[in-house]
Amino acid sequence: MTAAIATTAETFRPTLHYAARNTWLNDPNGLIFHGGVYHLYYQSNPLGNVWGNMSWGHATSPDLLKWTEHPTAITCDDDEDIFSGSIVFDRDNTSGFGTGTMAPLVAVYTSSFKPGSAHEGLQAQSLAYSLDGGYTWTKHAANPVLNRGSAEFRDPKVIRYDGDAGSYWVMVAVEATDFQVVLYKSEDLRTWELLSSFGPANATGGVWECPDLFPLPVDADPENLKWVLTVNLNPGGPNNGSAGQYFVGDFDGKTFVSATTVTEGLQDPDRLGKYQWLDWGRDYYAAVSFSDVPDNRRLMMAWMNNWEYANQIPTSPWRSPMTLAREISLQTTDGNLRLVQQPAGDWTALAGAEPFCLSTTTIHDGVQVLTGAAGTVQRIDVTFTPGSAEEFGLILRGDGVKGTRVGIRPREGFLIVDRRESGQTDFHASFPSIETAPIQAAAGSYALTIYVDRCSVEVFAQGGQVTMTELIFPAETSTEASLYAIGGTATVNELVVTQFA
Ligand code: FRU
Repeated sequence: MTAAIATTAETFRPTLHYAARNTWLNDPNGLIFHGGVYHLYYQSNPLGNVWGNMSWGHATSPDLLKWTEHPTAITCDDDEDIFSGSIVFDRDNTSGFGTGTMAPLVAVYTSSFKPGSAHEGLQAQSLAYSLDGGYTWTKHAANPVLNRGSAEFRDPKVIRYDGDAGSYWVMVAVEATDFQVVLYKSEDLRTWELLSSFGPANATGGVWECPDLFPLPVDADPENLKWVLTVNLNPGGPNNGSAGQYFVGDFDGKTFVSATTVTEGLQDPDRLGKYQWLDWGRDYYAAVSFSDVPDNRRLMMAWMNNWEYANQIPTSPWRSPMTLAREISLQTTDGNLRLVQQPAGDWTALAGAEPFCLSTTTIHDGVQVLTGAAGTVQRIDVTFTPGSAEEFGLILRGDGVKGTRVGIRPREGFLIVDRRESGQTDFHASFPSIETAPIQAAAGSYALTIYVDRCSVEVFAQGGQVTMTELIFPAETSTEASLYAIGGTATVNELVVTQFA
């Protein structure tokens, strides 16, 4: 099958998403808005396009739409790999790394110590600082600054806590194999004091990695703040492999107390569906939020890949894109607090020709090609009302009846993405798959916004209450968008396809 598919080296290079020029990447690191630009650092192999030589790559963007790649920011050496972490702007120079005129950016990262190094086999937290706005970095001479003697202690996210308990730095990191988030406090980023730990809770099917902790207003009410703890997990996601879960609760400056931990039905094999997931697709991992975004906006970004097949995806010379940056908020629906996500960039600036539009249309059993809606980089906004069909939706990046199905099964209450016939799938046995996420009709209908890029579909359903992110590797010539229904009819109330390339 692979041989029949027309691809060139750059067929899959995304237009809307960041990918490195010619190297491997995984987790986003050190996300921060600083000096008028968004900084995206990331796990990078500067020497190849599979995982290894872990260092921090770097890119910046003024608008979250287009990214500029910069030289490697923090590089591995004979003693350590530079694993995931975060960056804070130390405006008051609490760390002392600044100069009289320049407050430092401080990176807090995991040193994964190599054989032969003084801390061989351990993972501990270390510092580096930048005095030129994040472009060049110096490792702190007294690293590591926080060592628990653990081989699985990683992924520090540092935030500034400013609340009833005082004003200080808080670190959340994981003891990965214990399914624990550990919380520490510091006045100067150099010495750390244990505050508390959280977990195990909810999904514990793999290792816990890359946590984050931040406050959000409930239903946009700044007087009503809740705290969100996000924890990535690999494997053990709702549709296999890597995924991110979240907890909503309270944080008093010391302890996070979750209001969303599920304690019943722990033997239920389907219990993963009861937990709250950042994304239900297979390619949304290591999600973490930006620091210091103006107007208190909370933006997150994830690595768009899955450790099950990450090193095998058929892109070259680069490997792995990031997801779109998403703006997240907390909303009450059916008495439950949940995260709602929207793409953060203003993509209208990139929109091409007149959009393709369709008003009320009945979909009959079968496939109906949308002539004039073909494309490889597009946004689709659509609302459906169910009829007698057991499943209906769109076939994207299609070629006849083959393609990526994004659909609704109203009776089962599922959103689905089916990539079994999406194009190149045979590079790994676990890649061809069909994913489901629970979804409910709102006022009898279903609204989907889908970003299609050259190697991905990112689905925001019901205004962003449910999201599903998936890699696909279609032939360059598979460009059709179609409607489909199985076993009956459904109605499209409105459909708009905006082309971006
Ligand atoms: C998550 C992760 C992190 C680690 C990094 C290493 O994908 O495993 O826990 O810091 O990747 O590249």
